[in-house]
Amino acid sequence: MLTISNLHAAYGKVEVLHGISLEVPKGKVVTLIGSNGAGKTTTMRAISGMIKPKSGTVTLSGKDVTGLESHKIARAGLAHSPEGRRVFSTMSVTDNLLLGAFPRYTGSRPRGDIKEDLEKSLELFPRLKERQHQLAGTLSGGEQQMLAMARAVMLNPEVILLDEPSMGLAPILVEEVFRIILSLKKRGVTMLLVEQFAAAALNVADYGYVMENGHISVHGPADKLKNDPAVQAAYLGGGGQQH
Ligand SMILES: Nc1ncnc2c1ncn2[C@@H]1O[C@H](COP(=O)(O)OP(=O)(O)O)[C@@H](O)[C@H]1O
Ligand SMILES: [Mg+2]
Repeated sequence: MLTISNLHAAYGKVEVLHGISLEVPKGKVVTLIGSNGAGKTTTMRAISGMIKPKSGTVTLSGKDVTGLESHKIARAGLAHSPEGRRVFSTMSVTDNLLLGAFPRYTGSRPRGDIKEDLEKSLELFPRLKERQHQLAGTLSGGEQQMLAMARAVMLNPEVILLDEPSMGLAPILVEEVFRIILSLKKRGVTMLLVEQFAAAALNVADYGYVMENGHISVHGPADKLKNDPAVQAAYLGGGGQQH
């Protein structure tokens, strides 16, 4: 379980997060919705240690990980699949996945059965299975995005942060990404999801938070948010654009 309390973060002198509090209970999928520039990516960066929060706390399975370096937060059990494609392009698909499991080899995460988990990941992402020996840099953008997601799964983490996993994907791959998120959810994987397709995100999520200009404006069970007229108008294509 992940708990964020009154998190403030800035780029230089410009504060972007003005006190974010949210909770991702074990085994649940929580989505963070908001327009471009609201601060969703920054929230994820401040959680995973890519940037240092100015104040507030990040607690992962009871452990205060606020402000730790990102590799230490990963060891504590947090996997971040960042916005955009962040894969090791000169390494094969399989090696990228095994690298995701690195803290399990060194004993800083429970080891489990890495080989079996690799097989399971490849089953879950059939496109990656077909291309497991290919260099990651030769994958399409969408496939690289999936590789980043699969690599996060390979940590066998307590919580996965998924930042716009469907960004830039063809519609058929967008569907596949949501199918994969649902499969992970059925396996009990805990996730914080940011998605441009807010309606689809609320369909897979248990709970949602709406973010506006670095604040949480509304939050509630996903079903309730889906039926909230203000949320519908602003984020669910109720006459407007989807974000
Ligand atoms: N590396 C950066 N340096 C300075 N400002 C940034 C940086 N990244 C994001 N921002 C600013 O922080 C705000 C929130 O951005 P971001 O967290 O990326 O929003 P979202 O993911 O919700 O679209 C925006 O105003 C954006 O311009
Ligand atoms: Mg973003």
